[in-house]
Amino acid sequence: MVRDRTVHRCQQCGFAGPKPGTCPDCRRATGELVALVEERQEPAARGARRPAGISRPVRLRDVVTEPDDRMPTGIGELDRVLGGGVVRGSLVLIGGDPGIGKSTLLLQTARALARTAPPVLYVSAEESAPQVKLRAERLGLAGEDLLLWAETDLDAVLAELDAVKPRALVVDSIQTVFLPALESAPGSVAQVRECGARLMTMAKGRGIATFLVGHVTKEGALAGPRVLEHLVDTVLYFEGDQHHAYRILRAIKNRFGSTNEIGVFEMTSGGLADVADAAAFFLAQRPTDAPGSVVVPSLEGTRPLLLELQALVGRASFGTPRRTVEGADYNRVCLMLAVLEKRAGVPIGTQDVFVNVAGGGRVVEPAADLAILIAAASSYLERPVAPDVVVLGEVGLTGEVRAVSGIEPRLRAAAQLGFRAAVVPRGNVDGAPPLRVTGVTTVTEAVAVLLGG
Ligand code: TYD
Ligand code: MG
Repeated sequence: MVRDRTVHRCQQCGFAGPKPGTCPDCRRATGELVALVEERQEPAARGARRPAGISRPVRLRDVVTEPDDRMPTGIGELDRVLGGGVVRGSLVLIGGDPGIGKSTLLLQTARALARTAPPVLYVSAEESAPQVKLRAERLGLAGEDLLLWAETDLDAVLAELDAVKPRALVVDSIQTVFLPALESAPGSVAQVRECGARLMTMAKGRGIATFLVGHVTKEGALAGPRVLEHLVDTVLYFEGDQHHAYRILRAIKNRFGSTNEIGVFEMTSGGLADVADAAAFFLAQRPTDAPGSVVVPSLEGTRPLLLELQALVGRASFGTPRRTVEGADYNRVCLMLAVLEKRAGVPIGTQDVFVNVAGGGRVVEPAADLAILIAAASSYLERPVAPDVVVLGEVGLTGEVRAVSGIEPRLRAAAQLGFRAAVVPRGNVDGAPPLRVTGVTTVTEAVAVLLGG
């Protein structure tokens, strides 16, 4: 029987079927109609397979582990997210919006690794060598002993590894390199998947720590190839706001560490700088004694970040009152305003309300509920919250204040930054808190305690 070697593949989720049309998986998941793209099945897939009989099953207790297979990259915040350095032979994918600083981060990482674990090869498939050099000069690392190669042909790169023998490899980006044997264009699912698989085999086989850059679509998915996320060992997302200097590196998947850590960087004129003192980062320039400003000790993974929530409440001039929210969840804010009106009797329904997290920060956890509500009440009542108080608590629809997790690190971070008091859910008051703690059970009580009756 002659097999038809044509498949129709979804460029969004990787679904492949024999018939043309739209993708059934995407239709089911999002209702979106995504056209399938015809694709010849590539015989080159066989090239990635290893000959049989090289490895055999072994007893778990006979498996030899090498204790020292982690290399610190020398970039503190990156090491923290990776779990203490990059593991030899691992494949790390760094995703993020264009212009967020992926190339900058990896160039700095490559430079740092070139000092501790040379040689390091940086393959730039997006920018020419002079362009990369210009960036390197900007970062003050022009004379570094780092191998740079502007090349898009992945076969050529893999063939050169024998001669170069790098201990770390950067491929910037996976969507612009290609394998000439495949017919599809660079960036297509077939190319990305196959390039990813080849790099994986290479990284594991040679023990090279490999970093891949991946582009992210507007919706926040790695463009096209979700397949890559399953293949690689570690997926990191680099995110932030183009208009603010801070960047957060988040682990979405990590086979060699926790996904609870985040790295915080600041984009400076000399490249990315570690922000080791992240807890306080967003509090710079905080006004004191201003109505509508409340500090919440939020938790990003295991890392406390103190964020300033700001609200501005004013009478709506006409029509439906406006609600504008930056850095927090819009629906959550509307819910808090409804609870504030109904349960605490603050008539905010006819007012315009603007809520913002200062410094471009972002808070999505319910632990910030009470702080949102108090910020709005504080602005409405024109009464400031004492500047040395932090506010914490999840708010339910009946106006009850519910306990939150991780109270201890949150309060410790607040105390370290000079806060002296905290208003928290009653259910969280125990142990020996590092600052003066007041427990509240309802929003009415919280408004009374913080803003006075
Ligand atoms: P880049 O690393 O090219 O982003 P990506 O690879 O994710 O597309 O970063 C580009 C942005 O970073 C650019 O807008 C300029 C800014 N930048 C600085 O602010 N300082 C620097 O030292 C460098 C190198 C870049
Ligand atoms: Mg780039």
